[in-house]
Amino acid sequence: MSHQLSVIGTGVIGNGWIARALANGWDVVAFDPDPAAKARTRAFVDNAWPSLQRRGLAEGADPARLTFVESLEAAVAGAGLIQENVPERLALKREILAAIDAAAAPDAIIGSSTSGFKPSDLQQACTNAPGRVIVAHPFNPVYLLPLVELVGGEVTQPGQIEQAQARYRELAMRPLVVRREIEGHIADRLMEALWREALHLVNDGVATTEEIDAAVIYGCGLRWSLMGTFLTFHLAGGDAGMRHMLEQFGPALKLPWTKLEAPELTNELIDKVVEGCEHQAAGRSVAELDRRRDDFLVEMLDLVQKYWPEAEGLEGRI
Ligand SMILES: NC(=O)c1ccc[n+]([C@@H]2O[C@H](COP(=O)([O-])OP(=O)(O)OC[C@H]3O[C@@H](n4cnc5c(N)ncnc54)[C@H](O)[C@@H]3O)[C@@H](O)[C@H]2O)c1
Repeated sequence: MSHQLSVIGTGVIGNGWIARALANGWDVVAFDPDPAAKARTRAFVDNAWPSLQRRGLAEGADPARLTFVESLEAAVAGAGLIQENVPERLALKREILAAIDAAAAPDAIIGSSTSGFKPSDLQQACTNAPGRVIVAHPFNPVYLLPLVELVGGEVTQPGQIEQAQARYRELAMRPLVVRREIEGHIADRLMEALWREALHLVNDGVATTEEIDAAVIYGCGLRWSLMGTFLTFHLAGGDAGMRHMLEQFGPALKLPWTKLEAPELTNELIDKVVEGCEHQAAGRSVAELDRRRDDFLVEMLDLVQKYWPEAEGLEGRI
């Protein structure tokens, strides 16, 4: 299998895939209709490269192994792995995936980065081999975060997901197979729940964006990066673990603490959230904050690896 990744759509996520593949010594062929895309991608890879160097580059890794082409068909021809990253609009995704499906080699795997759509909804317009169109949902920054959620649809055969797992592992990722397709997969469901609550807290004037972020940064977030929700709460129950935790805090689950329904995104709420974030950024550009986050993640990944040496898929360079 050739080590070539085809990237369709080179925004934040497409560029993240490009940087990851290049750092792993792959060839990358990219297509994006925006005339500014090529320059943007070069700048993106330049910005990401120092942290990728610190993580350790694969043999042959070279930003010059990226080629931009003028059509989707030229980008996907001959590729073993194709990653679709166009904007999150169902009609557009369907159109682009149908075009990829028509032009791709029969044994190619076609992964969509969609954050929310189910693979069966994406497969519908594909007439060639729709079963190989799967969801392969990454996390920003794609070049550092190892998780990729793999989801098959109604016409996906089990073997296709296993093949995809192997391919994404070759990109040094940690595939998580989602057993049943649902909107938002697994991780976005969790992030969405927290996000709704956070917006309510701002909307109700309980806390600023900065205060809510502090609650995550100095509290629950530190624990989550090592143990997630369940194992963290298992420890919260003391020696008796989760059973005692549920006995103690279970009744609170019935109290109407959390809202779950999203608040109305009024102009006032949008202003509060945007102004709060700008205050937190304190004049630093997104690119500057990207570099700070990347430096942190490089060290954090080492720590996760150090404290979970037995974790599947986290061995070696991730
Ligand atoms: N941003 C995130 O944090 C995040 C995380 C995980 C997954 N995703 C998913 O990744 C996908 C892309 O999101 P993004 O944040 O990179 O969006 P983006 O807006 O940054 O980039 C989209 C890119 O697609 C290009 N594009 C538009 N029409 C196209 C076409 N017909 N053919 C090829 N390219 C086309 C645009 O020019 C742009 O460069 C979405 O499905 C999103 O849900 C996003």
